[in-house]
Amino acid sequence: MPPLRRKRIVVLTGAGISAESGLATFRAAEGGLWENHRLEDVATPEAFARDPALVHRFYNMRRAAALGAQPNAAHFALADLARAHDLTLVTQNVDDLHEKAGSPEVIHMHGALSGALCAACNHRWKSAAEMDTQTACPSCGAAAARPDIVWFGEMPYQMERIWDAIEAADLFAAIGTSGHVYPAAGFAQHAARSGAHCVELNLEPSQNARDFHEHRGGKASAIVPEWVAELTRP
Ligand code: OAD
Repeated sequence: MPPLRRKRIVVLTGAGISAESGLATFRAAEGGLWENHRLEDVATPEAFARDPALVHRFYNMRRAAALGAQPNAAHFALADLARAHDLTLVTQNVDDLHEKAGSPEVIHMHGALSGALCAACNHRWKSAAEMDTQTACPSCGAAAARPDIVWFGEMPYQMERIWDAIEAADLFAAIGTSGHVYPAAGFAQHAARSGAHCVELNLEPSQNARDFHEHRGGKASAIVPEWVAELTRP
């Protein structure tokens, strides 16, 4: 049998990959996170300045949910994909389900619930299970701890590295993301222009479905393992 040719692959994941692990997506008609909390009340720097206690409560709740969640077959399949190909795994998710499934390296472009960031001096450390307005920065001592999450109006993390990987990719895939939030929603178009084949794996077509060459519809736990199996068969 001929050996498997290693491909350069960039995968972008969104809330849909964690839905079957019990974590709510953002824009679902029922049970979507933004339904119970208006976006501008919990996910902007202005919201944190106005009502830090509310913002901490919201993220404490999400952190507790993520801590109790287990990866599903889609997360495990992506860990397998990293063993067979040169994979850059980028997630918009702030949970740690890719890490729990064994993915060796994950770029958390929107930050992570496991992180704390000092709003006064920018020091970063591992968050406790709960934070509140009294949580002090271990470096400067200011009671200015915030979740290390990229809020609306802030710059996502590691963008240079992500654009470089996209430009070098043979294959780009977006899994479980609605394509509403930029810059992530622009990755497929950039990947296609740079010569990559672009695949969307999603329950419903995304906002930017036209940017993809190929669409696979269904639940992540079913369609991602199938797709990975095709890519890892010699
Ligand atoms: P959304 O909630 O906008 O979209 C979730 C997507 O997952 C939708 O397209 C669903 O069709 C799909 N989906 C739901 N269940 C699925 C399943 N079982 N299998 C496969 N697909 C499924 O979430 P994101 O696109 O990730 O940003 O949202 C992007 C960003 O918007 C988030 O990172 C967050 C939010 O505002 C910040 O917090 C900065």
